[in-house]
Amino acid sequence: MTSPSVYARRRAAVARALKAAGGGVAVLPTAPERPRNRDSDFPYRHDSYFYYLTGFAEPEAWLVISSTGQSTLLCRPKDLEREIWDGFRLGPKAAPGALGVEAAHSVAQLDKLMPQLLANQKAVWFPFATHPGLETQLDGWLGQVRARVRMGAECPQSQHDLCKLLDEMRLFKDAHEVRILRRAGEISARAHVRAMQTSAMMLRAGQDAREYHLEAELLHEFRRQGAQFPAYTSIVAAGSNACVLHYRAGDAPLKAGELCLIDAGCELDGYASDITRSFPAGGRFSPAQRTLYDIVLDAQKAAIAATRPGKRFNDPHEAAVKVLAQGMLDTGLLTKKKHGSVADVIASGAYRQFYMHRTGHWMGMDVHDCGDYTEPGTKPRQELDATGQPVMRRPSRVLRPGMVLTIEPGLYVRPGKDVPKAFWNIGIRIEDDALVTAKGCELLTRGVPVEADAIEALMAG
Ligand code: GLY
Ligand code: MN
Ligand code: MN
Repeated sequence: MTSPSVYARRRAAVARALKAAGGGVAVLPTAPERPRNRDSDFPYRHDSYFYYLTGFAEPEAWLVISSTGQSTLLCRPKDLEREIWDGFRLGPKAAPGALGVEAAHSVAQLDKLMPQLLANQKAVWFPFATHPGLETQLDGWLGQVRARVRMGAECPQSQHDLCKLLDEMRLFKDAHEVRILRRAGEISARAHVRAMQTSAMMLRAGQDAREYHLEAELLHEFRRQGAQFPAYTSIVAAGSNACVLHYRAGDAPLKAGELCLIDAGCELDGYASDITRSFPAGGRFSPAQRTLYDIVLDAQKAAIAATRPGKRFNDPHEAAVKVLAQGMLDTGLLTKKKHGSVADVIASGAYRQFYMHRTGHWMGMDVHDCGDYTEPGTKPRQELDATGQPVMRRPSRVLRPGMVLTIEPGLYVRPGKDVPKAFWNIGIRIEDDALVTAKGCELLTRGVPVEADAIEALMAG
């Protein structure tokens, strides 16, 4: 159990920020339960912002933080009948001791308490455009405060987006978060190892191996190591399915001689991991597969070298694109005659035929985590986009220690008239999670091999 002081420290930081902005109160609900069909719900997942400030994973809960430093939790009341059916509830009486909040009440009191908590506050902060219906609820409570103005109540005069403040805090991972992210990365790496070995074993044994067999291995390893969920729907893509970027694990057969792309990571204690490996289903790369694999690996190495403090978020992407574009010209995926030099291929965007996504994203509680991708406080400047149209852009974010991002270049070759046939239907992505450190970056997911020789050795064993 995490010490409540981790969350208390974060709440205190929010209170200080509200105070610095002139005082006010922050209101934050957790996520609702979501029905799947008839009376079955999807597995419950708390709201990341809410969990970041409470460590509390029950549904139907609200957090209110005032700039004076007081935190109030509203949560489900103890209820023996409901606890017999659905399980333990912390309840408001135990909440201050367990979570370190100053006060706690039953969520049944929400409509009565909120107007009291909002009265005589200068401003209200809440997550904009995140919880459907929240604005309407707040309007109702603020209306009740206003109705009491003649009795001396003061109504908040301004509303601010709480996301902006929390996004910036969440972008920099503290020691507690780094510990969990490291462990999540280790578990996911083990799951990839297990899936690769299963693929080779099943094909060697002449079994009918399918994408879902490998998905089952991933889930098995996640759960047996204590991770609660996959952080996102696992991609297990056999052969040409790897060229579908958002493919889900289906029932396609794994074939010796084809690659399999797995993009999967567990969520551990509210934190994601995100790994992709592309490996020969039977354990040996063909020459064409190996050629493209090594280009993507070199692109990833270049991107990793550009992931260090002082570099910008876009730098790893630009480093990867340079290597990939050179590889496209070297292999004849693009021709010098038609597309020119590497610089031309980059300027024209021709490389996008085979590499159409970006090389990374922030990662943390959410696999695509929050955080500004541009440098705060900078002015937009005019640039030209890939089609030559002027666009206003702000400079990309400067990397600093504590940020966590993925590094995930790829190549996806669909059949085409001018595309060398040897490469048709090969899809490769290599993805690791990186923590920016004082001097460079720490890869959190290297428990699974990435060099082609090491993958072959692992699958032979
Ligand atoms: N697995 C989602 C991504 O790589 O961004
Ligand atoms: Mn990713
Ligand atoms: Mn991924």
